[in-house]
Amino acid sequence: MKRLAYLLSAVLLLAACTAKEQAPAEVSIIPRPAFFQQGEGVFSIDRKVPVYVDSNDPELLRSVAFLNERLEKAAGFTLDVIQDDPLQHGQEKAVFILNAGWKKESYNLNVTPDRLLIEYVDGAGLFYAVQTIFQLLPDDIFADSVRKGVKWDVPCCVIEDSPAFPYRGMHLDCCLHFYSVDFLKKYIDIMAMHKVNRFHWHLTEDQGWRLEIKKYPLLTEKGQWRKETVIGSLHSGFYDGTPYGGYYTQDEVRELVQYAAERYVTIIPEIELPGHALAAIACYPELSCGLEDHYETATKWGIFKQVYCPKEETFKFLEDVFDEVFELFPSELIHIGGDECPKASWKQCPHCQALIRHEGLKDEYELQSWFIRRMEKYINSKGRQIIGWDEILEGGLAPNAKVMSWLGEEGGIKSAQQHHEVVMAPYPKYYLDYWQADPDSEPLAMGGPTTLRTMYEYNPVPEVLTPEERRYIIGVEGCVWTEYMPTPERVEYMAWPRMCAIAEAGWSPCEKDWDYFTRRLETHLGRLDRLGVGYCRAFYEPFIELHKDTTYSKIVTMSVDAPDAEIRYTLDGSEPDASSELYVRPFAINRNQVVNAVAIRDGKPLGRARTKRFIN
Ligand code: ACM
Ligand code: ZN
Repeated sequence: MKRLAYLLSAVLLLAACTAKEQAPAEVSIIPRPAFFQQGEGVFSIDRKVPVYVDSNDPELLRSVAFLNERLEKAAGFTLDVIQDDPLQHGQEKAVFILNAGWKKESYNLNVTPDRLLIEYVDGAGLFYAVQTIFQLLPDDIFADSVRKGVKWDVPCCVIEDSPAFPYRGMHLDCCLHFYSVDFLKKYIDIMAMHKVNRFHWHLTEDQGWRLEIKKYPLLTEKGQWRKETVIGSLHSGFYDGTPYGGYYTQDEVRELVQYAAERYVTIIPEIELPGHALAAIACYPELSCGLEDHYETATKWGIFKQVYCPKEETFKFLEDVFDEVFELFPSELIHIGGDECPKASWKQCPHCQALIRHEGLKDEYELQSWFIRRMEKYINSKGRQIIGWDEILEGGLAPNAKVMSWLGEEGGIKSAQQHHEVVMAPYPKYYLDYWQADPDSEPLAMGGPTTLRTMYEYNPVPEVLTPEERRYIIGVEGCVWTEYMPTPERVEYMAWPRMCAIAEAGWSPCEKDWDYFTRRLETHLGRLDRLGVGYCRAFYEPFIELHKDTTYSKIVTMSVDAPDAEIRYTLDGSEPDASSELYVRPFAINRNQVVNAVAIRDGKPLGRARTKRFIN
């Protein structure tokens, strides 16, 4: 059995990334493998096909079990798994699973009519090989009940695959709104399917504390609750009058951490400091600068001036909290927040001012840096590393800190130049709480729009960095802040399919190719349908934009993501269909006109019509 040398593979990889014709439309893998070459024929899986694995390591066997789990559900049979040297069974039609040394998380697949060979480098590599096999099989493999009459054929091909970045993250804020553990398991399943390997779990906020801490029971008894929630945006002035709460018990956390680990997802907990701490302060006011008589968990979105006061009591509290966090989460990286910490309280607080003088600090920004350095020291002393949002750069980075860059690219660039590792999560590109289609006809969101295409085309490695500095970009993350996502359905709608684009940026070393991505994505959406993921269907709908012209006219441009689609439109208020005017180029409309447009393929509408009115 030939094992490909690294050098040879690297050459093939380059060839793959420039020759998209090698990947016919019917094979649609997301994220795109580093190298793919289609062969002749198929490897048909039926109940008689044995699986030979060269290991009895339970971790590896669990990944094989995922294959059988899905086959059982969708095909109604499982394969016999035999722990034996696959090389002894070379004559037999079988699935062979073999260890091969290569880059972490990587795998190769070699599929011929008689054998499906998986070469894996580690448990994650084998898990990802299985995920790719699912995407080579008919979409019905993702169904939740047995599909009769499906031929479970894997097209013959060669795949050599390994990740572009070690950190491929997806975030979920469970504070602004709270989601069940069952939903989080589904969230992690879909992440893992896309080879996303970090779940950044936002657990503490001004609006609610969601993690059980045994030593400080008030954090959940009281801190999980806000007495009501603002309706609509931050400034609406309307409230729902309904208490809102929810938290995760330590048993639930352990269960989820284990569940994620089995899918090669590391959960990175985020415990916010020094800001976004109002829920904790409402429980234990002594943690604040003590400038107010009364503290309450926030009932609206935004940033609050009530932050932790850097005094011994606070550090004792935080160290105790982190001690329990370390027990619960094996992740080496621990997220300490660090974003959006107003300095107003520190400016007024006699203790903070005395501390600034005593430590010879220049200002409150340096006090923030001092705070974070002190916490880093503690966290490092327990064998863990910190990661924080861009603002931890203010007043100087803690010596070993990694940065999650959300405020654009500047913080990421600065950190990499200072030789600190960076995860790129810039809000204009990778924030999944931003509109993905026309805000005029979408539910309330945070900003944008940030379309699927904008996300796909973003290159997370800033060009200004030197090759040496680029090595400090360790990955990407899609962020899901949940102000406007009160339900799991809304989370899925906002996250998918845009997260597919971020997952691909994290995994695939190939050049961007929007057309090829949209072709693969269309097939891939069928998988998400079968998995019951309620993604946004804007992919199938025109995006109508009105551009400023004169007081009396605007210029209309339209686009649609779905491949091979045309846009048909009306301007008289009528429903557009296949016989309506074809959109070929920008045109002007006048006051009081309305554009109705629909995407058409093969004479049929692909999705809903979209409407845009001339206003002002
Ligand atoms: C953030 O969005 N405040 C990190
Ligand atoms: Zn203070």
